Amino acid sequence: MGDTAQLIVDGKTYEIPLVVGSEGERGLDIARLRSETGLITLDPGCGNTGLCQSSITFMDGEKGILRYRGIPVEQLAEHSTFRETAYLLINGELPTEAQLRRFSVRLNDHSLVHEDMRSFFESYPRGAHPMGMISSMINALRAFYPSIPERSEEEEINITFARLLSKVRTLAAMSYKISLGHKVVYPRHDLSYCANFLNMMFDSPVKPYIVDEDLVDALNVFWILHADHEQNCSTSSVRAVGSARVNLYAAISAGISALWGPLHGGANQAVIEMLQEIYDSGGDPAPFIARAKDRNDPFRLMGFGHRVYKTFDPRARIIEKVCNRVLKKLHREDPLLPIAKKLEEVALRDSYFIDHNLYPNVDFYAGIVLRAIGIPINMFPVMFAIGRLPGWIAQWKESADDPKWKLYRPRQIYAGPLKRDYMPMGERA
Ligand code: ACO
Repeated sequence: MGDTAQLIVDGKTYEIPLVVGSEGERGLDIARLRSETGLITLDPGCGNTGLCQSSITFMDGEKGILRYRGIPVEQLAEHSTFRETAYLLINGELPTEAQLRRFSVRLNDHSLVHEDMRSFFESYPRGAHPMGMISSMINALRAFYPSIPERSEEEEINITFARLLSKVRTLAAMSYKISLGHKVVYPRHDLSYCANFLNMMFDSPVKPYIVDEDLVDALNVFWILHADHEQNCSTSSVRAVGSARVNLYAAISAGISALWGPLHGGANQAVIEMLQEIYDSGGDPAPFIARAKDRNDPFRLMGFGHRVYKTFDPRARIIEKVCNRVLKKLHREDPLLPIAKKLEEVALRDSYFIDHNLYPNVDFYAGIVLRAIGIPINMFPVMFAIGRLPGWIAQWKESADDPKWKLYRPRQIYAGPLKRDYMPMGERA
């Protein structure tokens, strides 16, 4: 196997270096393509374009593999906690006991948010989507927590990571409480990361919240499964915005905005809305499958399909198990679960879905787990954002530490009008 590929343009041959990843993935290094050939590459949606070399997450979409820092996501879902997985993603290794303890103390130390931020929330229109609120709040954190000149750069960055990881939970729960017109619940140092969030969401002066360890476990797994997914839309947004050397809060806020879209993190909400529509229309998924297959109908089966996975999303299998376990434990039936199972069964047998390699993705069963935990539907994308935060931070850190880090500035092939003169208003048709 050679270490270059050849490109022949207008009869001239150019040597294009090959880059080989640790799992044997190969790519063409076209960094000098334009300067040497005058050509650029065109790849709408970037499906064939690597924007960086990364040692954080490995995915194999054909085999359905997902690993964080080399560790299979199945093992992390079984044995780890979200807090420990966050540490792993950001620092590259699993923590020792002492490191994990220090990390927890730091998260606790930064869990409160400035009281003045509450008035921000309160002046938001009632009914505003919490993703828009959280994105603004994260951006606003910079104003409330400006840089600390007396700290070393490394120390300041680590504090910023902890602030983000810890405060995003507090902000998310705060937005929910304020939207209900209820009293905000403060974080507690005696509770774990996930239990603390659930308590801030559901504790009330009239009905104290009793932490249910099974729900805590389910939330841990949900967040672990969402913690990173290499160069997806929101992560690329964090890297792109970060490449302008903007502060980390602004870069993460951009990631949250990207994640809001129904083709990305908004899909978990869209899945439940779709399942509810099927339920309300009598429970037969067939008309919905027919619409998803109709080229003239923009409708898609939400929670199906993935840009990278051309087989089962490994996270979908894990979250389905969690879904079954939680509902069983709670002795609760969700009328949307049989609808989801029926829809999946029909779609997986349908030649359209088989031919297009469309399998359930992580969002397909995630919404039912969140419903079981008690999370309101408009908070679903926020739950995804909290989970994805360690990945965004790790990816931002990796790009910031990369000596080859450059401002993102893609090119285009211009297809507009040729030069023409400005026409005065009176002469226009
Ligand atoms: N339902 C019906 N048809 C679909 C679906 C779907 N969910 N997904 C893709 N297709 C079809 C397209 O119509 C297209 O068909 P055609 O080639 O006959 O025209 C073909 O499959 C390829 O579709 P693209 O949009 O080009 O594929 P892409 O890789 O860009 O799409 C995406 C990936 C956006 C996730 C898509 O599968 C989708 O819209 N899924 C539904 C939304 C969803 O569940 N998003 C969550 C993704 S996972 C995550 O972000 C956590």
